[in-house]
Parts: sequence; C-alpha cells; structure tokens
Amino acid sequence: MGQQFGRRSWAEPWKIKMVEPIRQIPPEDRRRALQEAGYNTFLLRSDDVYLDLLTDSGTGAMSDRQWAGLLLGDEAYAGSRNFFRLEAAVRRAYGYAEVLPVHQGRGAEHLLSRCAIRAGQHVPGNMYFTTTRLHQELAGGIFHDVIVDAAHDTASREPFKGNVDLDKLDALIRRVGAAQIAYLSLAGTVNMAGGQPVAMANVKALRALCDTHGIRIFLDATRMVENAFFIQEREPGYAKQSVAEILREFCSYTDGAWMSAKKDNLVNIGGWLAVNDRQLYEELRNLIVVYEGLHTYGGMAGRDMEALAIGIEESVQDEHIRSRVGQVRYLGELLTDWDIPIVQPVGGHAIFLDARAFYPHIPQQEFPAQTLAAELYLDSGIRAMERGIASAGRDPVSGEHHFPRLELTRLTIPRRVYTQAHMDVVAESVKSVWDQRMTTQGLRMVYEPKYLRFFQARFERLRPAALGCERPLAQARPLTPT
Ligand SMILES: Cc1ncc(COP(=O)(O)O)c(C=O)c1O
Repeated sequence: MGQQFGRRSWAEPWKIKMVEPIRQIPPEDRRRALQEAGYNTFLLRSDDVYLDLLTDSGTGAMSDRQWAGLLLGDEAYAGSRNFFRLEAAVRRAYGYAEVLPVHQGRGAEHLLSRCAIRAGQHVPGNMYFTTTRLHQELAGGIFHDVIVDAAHDTASREPFKGNVDLDKLDALIRRVGAAQIAYLSLAGTVNMAGGQPVAMANVKALRALCDTHGIRIFLDATRMVENAFFIQEREPGYAKQSVAEILREFCSYTDGAWMSAKKDNLVNIGGWLAVNDRQLYEELRNLIVVYEGLHTYGGMAGRDMEALAIGIEESVQDEHIRSRVGQVRYLGELLTDWDIPIVQPVGGHAIFLDARAFYPHIPQQEFPAQTLAAELYLDSGIRAMERGIASAGRDPVSGEHHFPRLELTRLTIPRRVYTQAHMDVVAESVKSVWDQRMTTQGLRMVYEPKYLRFFQARFERLRPAALGCERPLAQARPLTPT
C-alpha cells in the first residue's frame, strides 16, 4: 500500500507478542450505547468501542523492557531508586537541571501555574490547550493566543503552523508591559491546531525576544519528540541530526517544561515537571508535597517511574518516531486521496477532520465536530473526539461560548497499538460518514459541567437521525482511492 503514495514503505521497529481481542458491536447496540452516553464519546464504555481513537493519552503499548521494568519497582515512600533513574532520563533526553515527578500532565500544569503566575498577569501561548489554560486561569492568569494565523487555516500547508507570531507577542508585551507577562507558554507540537510543529528558528527567535524583556519560556513537552521529528524532516540544516539531538537543542532555548508522559514517553500514567531555576524548583518541590506526593514520587508508583525512565529512552529513537508519525500520515494520505477535508499538513499524533467542511449546514452552536464524532461511532464503532466549540468552553468573564475558528474531530492514534489494516478500516468509515454528510443533523447540549465541559457534557439530537446514518461497515464503500 505504501508505494501507492509514491514513496518507499516503512515498517514498525517491533513485532507483536501479546494481543488484546477487540470486537465491533452491532449497529442497534451502538445506537443505544451512544444515546446512553449523551452523544459524548467520553461517556461510552470501552467495551462498546471497536477501534479506540479517542486519545493517544496513556493508551500506548509498553515494550517488553518497560514491562520487565515494572518488576524493578522500588516502592519506598522516599528516595526510590526509580526516581533517580527517571531524573537521569529526563536530564539526558531533555537537558533540564531539576526534575519533579507528577501523577500526569495537569498535575504539573497546576503546580507551575500556581508558582509562576501572579493574579492578573498575562500568559501568551501558541494556541490554548484545555487543561493548560484552565490551570493558568485558575491561578489568575489571562491567556492570549499568539500563534501564527496559518494555524487557524486547515488548508494551509505551512510546515510550522505551531510557530508563535513574534509580532503578536511583541505587541502584547508592549501593550501590558513585560512585568505583567507571567511567561510564554509554548507547546510543541500544538495539539489543538492539529499536532502542528514549532520550528527551531522560531524558538531561537522567541528566546532572543524574551531575553530582551526578561520573560521566561516554559514548554509543554508532551509531544515535543514528535515536534523534533518534524524539524529533522522539514527544517534546513537538521536532516543529519538525530531526533534526540534536536530535542535537546530545542529545550535548551526554554527555561523548563511540563510533561504528560502518557503521550510521547510511552507510559499509561505519569508525568514530570523540570526547570533550570533553582529557586523556582524549591517552590515547586515544596508545593508538590501538598498536591501530588513527596518530591521523589509525585503521585507515581516506583514501578511506573521505572517504566517511564525506559519509555523516555525508547521515545527519542529515530526509527520509533518515524514509524509513529508515519502511521498517522498513512491514514491522512488515504483520506486526502479521497478529498476528505482534514487539517493539512498531517500532524504528529492524530488526523483532525474539518467538521465545518463536513457539515456546512450545521451552525457551530449545534456542535458539528461533536456530531461527526457521534456519526463515526454509529457507522463503525470507532471512537473519535471533539476539538471544537465544546472543547473551547466559555469565556471566564463574559460566560459566553468561545467560538474557535477550528471545529475539528480528532482521530488520535495510540502509539504501537493498531496496524495498517486498522487504519484502512478507519479510512473507510470516515468515507462512509462523509458520503452521508448532507443528511446529518446537529446536536443540542442538555447538560454542561462547569469545568472542562467536553469530558462530561451530554447532548441530544436536534432532529431525528436521517435514515441510513447507521449503515454497518460491511456496506461502506470499498477502499479504492480515486
Ligand atoms: C498538549 C497537552 N498538554 C497537556 C495535557 C494534559 O496532560 P494529562 O492528560 O496527562 O493531564 C495534554 C493531555 O491531553 C495535552 O495533550
């Protein structure tokens, strides 16, 4: 199949030695399950899901070395040897001086926001991320999106759509004054923009600009290894450097990073927070005992820290990251060949379907991307997730919906879990839903939780589903790219 896209095929640098059975439940059962879940794929039971593309967070497969590492867990309350292995692995791969373990990414976001933001300060960032912005706002910060305009254009094929727009950042600094900027919140790659990377040239320029104003840069390193791969592939001068070398160079232009290790770092749970500034570290280390656990476990078991230390080593290997991004790209190429609208260029961890282009007749307040995720589940039992108006939430001051320019449905590919045949099945299901797009109706939100509403909100169909919306996969069109 690979050659059909005019390139040599790649293959995964591993073979499978244990399998977990999955099954596709019948269409009537899927309809019932979705109704019970309030048309929110987060509220489905995983037993009712066929291919689970909800998230790449904690859903990857660990290696045999990682599983073996679990048996080396040192479950001492204090000073576990696995912590020191983790600390060394983070220092080696990312280059920061001081390392703290946390239970997962948002634990780190919480601590960093509390220590680095004073109420009323501004936090510029390259597009918002749900939990990141919420913790910044809970700490009294005011978030500003300073990403390049191309990030909001799904069709733009700019290679680094995650870049910060230096003019936007400069204008904000001039308007509010450098002392009122808590820090620059930089994510590589940018999840909400479709997994789009930041260029090395951009982070270097940011470092120079921030240095002139004494502003710190903190990095959301959750998918920074994928970002480093894109730099190797796209940015002049980096083709001969390893992903590991590029990663370290990129991090060297930042003052610290937080990590949801459930993504790039190949574990099912865990995270870390790392900084260079000793004084900030002391503050974080003190606060961690209040919210996460002692600074040598931070909410993680010793065995989990061991698996994470090994996962970090594996995650920065070129052949791993090439096949990881390659699998996402394979799915993207199938859909692009069928002229199905997705965010271009294909990013690191997921395919983002452009729900506005699927459903031009569904206004944004009727949740087109949520609708598309529901339709995919009905079609084949594939679980996707919304990245549009429901995820964007409400403005904390006005209470109005945020209306993001991107209204996307995310098909997120777990690491080392699914095969190329699974990707073919996913593509066929998306095609089937695309073919029925004009008969699909939107949704109405009937329950809205206060925080991060997309996780637990419930919806109802606005009008009865159009006939034929739940065709079983067997009737979907065959895989014949035109
Ligand atoms: C870019 C990014 N940052 C932070 C987080 C939060 O991490 P966690 O889910 O481990 O709390 C996520 C999780 O999806 C993420 O994608």
